[in-house]
Amino acid sequence: MAELSRRRLLTTGGALGAVGALATAAPAWSWSPLGSVVGSGAGTDPRWVWDDEADPVVAAVLDSGDVPAVNALLRTWKTNDQPLPAGLPADLRDLMEKARQLPAWVDRGKLATAVRFNQLRGTYLGVTYGFASGMMSTAIPHEARAVYYSAGGADMKDRISKTAKLGYDVGSPNAFQPGGQMVVTCVKTRLVHAAVRHLLPQSPHWEGVADERVPISQRDLMVTWHSLPTTVMKQLRRWRVPIAPAHAAAFLHSWQVTGHLLGIRDEYLPATWTEANAQAAQVLDPVLAPTEEGVALADFLLDLGAEVDGGTFTRPFLGAFTRYTLGDQIADWLQIPREPGWDQAIKVGWPAFIRMRELGTILPGAPQLYWTFDEFIRRGALFYLAEGHPISIELPTGNNPD
Ligand code: HEM
Repeated sequence: MAELSRRRLLTTGGALGAVGALATAAPAWSWSPLGSVVGSGAGTDPRWVWDDEADPVVAAVLDSGDVPAVNALLRTWKTNDQPLPAGLPADLRDLMEKARQLPAWVDRGKLATAVRFNQLRGTYLGVTYGFASGMMSTAIPHEARAVYYSAGGADMKDRISKTAKLGYDVGSPNAFQPGGQMVVTCVKTRLVHAAVRHLLPQSPHWEGVADERVPISQRDLMVTWHSLPTTVMKQLRRWRVPIAPAHAAAFLHSWQVTGHLLGIRDEYLPATWTEANAQAAQVLDPVLAPTEEGVALADFLLDLGAEVDGGTFTRPFLGAFTRYTLGDQIADWLQIPREPGWDQAIKVGWPAFIRMRELGTILPGAPQLYWTFDEFIRRGALFYLAEGHPISIELPTGNNPD
């Protein structure tokens, strides 16, 4: 497997540090909570808000040395309706019990419609989560650096398999229902983020690169949130994929609920696509920039298929598809080489594929057939990324030692 190490960072990065440092200066926050799912809020700049419920509780677990025991228990907690395992520290159990509740504003009808949208558009969603959201995350300086210097940076394939699990769970037919896993995945991820806030400031590498002492602010969370549903929806519109208004609203809702379960305050979660696009223009677009860490992470991602074919086919294909979805500027930032043959083939072939597929969906039984096919690919991808092991999101105990 390709290794992601400090040496690799130094050889791929070049002189990007200064550019990244300049670009991470975020503009002032002026988005109004009137546009949020709850229509009200204090309007505090989320740059200075983290997770005051989860952070102290998880920090105490880390400081007490209980992480291995807690992780052993977390491994057994899998489905939304499953009671929490006995034996968790009391304040952690109380936090998780509260954190697993769906918000009062949840609309189960919309979540059911989101399932239909996921079934109908599974292929495009899978492609955009990977090529638009996943690759874009490497051009978000705060995220790229946090991922690089945290424990997961030392085992990127494992890290990606866990993120892919969240992408898989949110699109599953029973995502937020009793037998589903999305609530569990989100609550565990919220705990991991709290752990990272406690651990990363202790990394000897962190002080030198970060322009924020404590990572993963609520603003950072919203930036990454926009790299997911907002970016995905923009791509689908750009590709002229027909989307019923009810489907678009339902897809947004599934991500509003996801944001809430990840510990994002309701006052920051946009109520509509208009509000989401306005907020993304304010928080996501201006911070996109290259960093040495992001270039190294992107390089690693492009190598993901190398175990299968030595990278001969997969690497240029993945690079060209990234260039096609994210555009020349981001692809150049990430130092993805131009692949004239592939670039042209994808530019012509992908829209043609979409047209054919859209024609196909009118055939009886085709949507179900597509879903089955997509599901096969998604499960296969997760199996490959996790190297056949069950995927378990667990608290880290340290940072990337490299
Ligand atoms: C961990 C998803 C925002 C940095 C994780 C994990 C998931 C996830 C599923 C668990 C994987 C693991 O344990 O390795 C998300 C989603 C986000 C989001 C859906 C927003 C909607 C952010 C942001 C940052 C960040 C904004 C940094 C600025 C990290 C780090 C880890 C992590 C450093 C731990 C990696 C490790 O050491 O294992 N995230 N994340 N995440 N996330 Fe996030």
